[in-house]
Amino acid sequence: MGKLAITGGKPVRQKPFTAWPIYTQKEKQGLLKVLASRNWGGYPFPNKLADAFAQKFARFHGAKYGLAVANGTIAIEIALKAIGIQPGDEVIVPAYTWEGTVGPILLLNAIPVFVDIDPDTYCLDAKLIEKALTSKTRAILPVHLAMRFADMDEIMRIARERRLAVIEDCAHAHGGKWCNKGAGAIGDVGCFSFQSSKLMTAGEGGGVITSKLEYHERAQSFMNCGRASVTDKFRHRLIGFNYRLTELQAAILEAQLARLPQQAKVRQANMDYFEKRVRGTPGLDFLKPDPRQTRVAAYQFVFKYLPEHFQGIPRAAFLGALQMEGVPCDGLFYEPVYRSALFPVDAKEWPALSWGRPEPLNLKTLYHCPVSERAAYEEAVWLPHHIFLGSRKDTEDIAGAVRKVCENIGELRGLKPPAIEVKAMSRAERPRVEKRQW
Ligand SMILES: Cc1ncc(COP(=O)(O)O)c(C=O)c1O
Repeated sequence: MGKLAITGGKPVRQKPFTAWPIYTQKEKQGLLKVLASRNWGGYPFPNKLADAFAQKFARFHGAKYGLAVANGTIAIEIALKAIGIQPGDEVIVPAYTWEGTVGPILLLNAIPVFVDIDPDTYCLDAKLIEKALTSKTRAILPVHLAMRFADMDEIMRIARERRLAVIEDCAHAHGGKWCNKGAGAIGDVGCFSFQSSKLMTAGEGGGVITSKLEYHERAQSFMNCGRASVTDKFRHRLIGFNYRLTELQAAILEAQLARLPQQAKVRQANMDYFEKRVRGTPGLDFLKPDPRQTRVAAYQFVFKYLPEHFQGIPRAAFLGALQMEGVPCDGLFYEPVYRSALFPVDAKEWPALSWGRPEPLNLKTLYHCPVSERAAYEEAVWLPHHIFLGSRKDTEDIAGAVRKVCENIGELRGLKPPAIEVKAMSRAERPRVEKRQW
């Protein structure tokens, strides 16, 4: 029997952390009101609550126009359509992100071009973008990942110089700011997700914000079955789909948005405290803060586990032990998309990968992004945001558990219980063994 819970010791934490999502009477009343109104869906578009919420959400981030849509993946598809992406166009994306950032590019028969991430932020490395540009590049799609922003100054400079559109994937960045500009309102279009794990949620849902009326109009038509937009100044006509959000979800999101600033404050104070308590632990490293990120919106607290310091004991063992100490955590949260089992791309299904080429592009073998691969398979540790919504004592427990596992890492040598095995599984495999997955 060792000191660690995984080897039979007493866990640091036995009580659960703050449950997520959080709801109060506000959500309940909002839902009941919609129920009684019998106006539940997204039609007639943009309907009432969905429209009111979308406008408020856009203004909150400093954009002129907003749309409430079915989910974050669709938000990206809508944004790509809004900027007028054409089959065969290339879109720059970070290699290290959720597959939902990339799938919509293929869906529109365009081509994702993977670029590695910056080791200081785990976001798209703006220094590598220029090398990846070709005559077919049409857009850059940075992701403000976990707790940092991509370098939007440099990305906007490149985009302006090369006349490229910029779509910000802000699925992790509700309320975040870069140089005092809101997430999603720096580039041309911003996309958000309101899926269960996100900083505000209606179970599912998404948002698209922009300050360009033309993009807003095209987005409306695309998400509303091709119907004319409300203003219809540009008179674009295109084949569209039903990607509307329901009034039931909009009622929940209204309450969630009102609560976001207060939650962000608590979360940030606890995360700062956590970092203070674990900084200096040998073998751990941290993402670098950037003073241009004027408001942090941390979706998860991400830090680095350096396996070479821990005599090669893999991250999965550290995570399994941390989980057994009572702290929810993840490592293989994302993979470089080109290597992910959730990205079984086959050129036969996506004709743009073959056009004008002697051999189709093989997105699975074309890329090697070392920083993304190290983050994904060795180094990154992800702690969910809601565990930082509790008390100082909760945060003290998280920090205590991290330090305890590091100090007793030797106990993990050669161990392979299910708690560790599950931490080495990809997100494609895990739903078979885990009941609840964000
Ligand atoms: C970075 C990123 N982009 C896009 C998405 C897609 O959002 P959704 O799950 O709402 O479709 C997610 C969320 O899961 C995400 O984390």
